[in-house]
Amino acid sequence: MIEIITADITTLEVDAIVNAANNSLLGGGGVDGAIHRAAGPLLLKYCKTLDGCRTGEAKISPGFELPARRVIHTVGPVWQGGDHYEAALLRACYTNSFELALQNDVRSIAFPAISTGVYGFPKTAAAEIAIASMQDFEDRFDRIIACCFHEADAELYRQVLNRRM
Ligand code: APR
Repeated sequence: MIEIITADITTLEVDAIVNAANNSLLGGGGVDGAIHRAAGPLLLKYCKTLDGCRTGEAKISPGFELPARRVIHTVGPVWQGGDHYEAALLRACYTNSFELALQNDVRSIAFPAISTGVYGFPKTAAAEIAIASMQDFEDRFDRIIACCFHEADAELYRQVLNRRM
């Protein structure tokens, strides 16, 4: 079951929320900053032991003060025009996050729109990659949530999902 909602991902009470992090895993702005603020300082302390994360890969941590039990940190590609394997790397963020979730008994997972903020990935192309990946894993989770921050983004996700039904 894929759900498309407009919300602050740090408020979701799910098994795991996905963080659109950077390679250092030491926090930042956007959703990364929001997650670190809500999780509290123990998240940064824990992430310092993870030794960073390569673009397209994913690492897991406890949720600490978040309502979510876990945080899956993934690093999306920076958009550089589309001929630097950005689409493949973004797809890998979703696939690796789902695989890591399965290895950690995660049954409900929420994703932000990875790479579409600071990293500049075009929103429609990113939504198509997100929805296609979510459909690949749909029957292996109880809940898959596309958590958009703006209603316009959620509308875009719904259009993409309806085109793929
Ligand atoms: N809940 C859900 N979504 C959010 C939230 C939130 N609290 N805050 C921001 N977003 C959305 C943005 O609106 C955007 O659609 O997350 C999406 C991803 O945007 P960014 O957070 O800018 O992430 P990204 O584009 O992947 O860039 C990552 O930004 O914050 C830094 O440390 C981070 O360097 C990394 C880079």
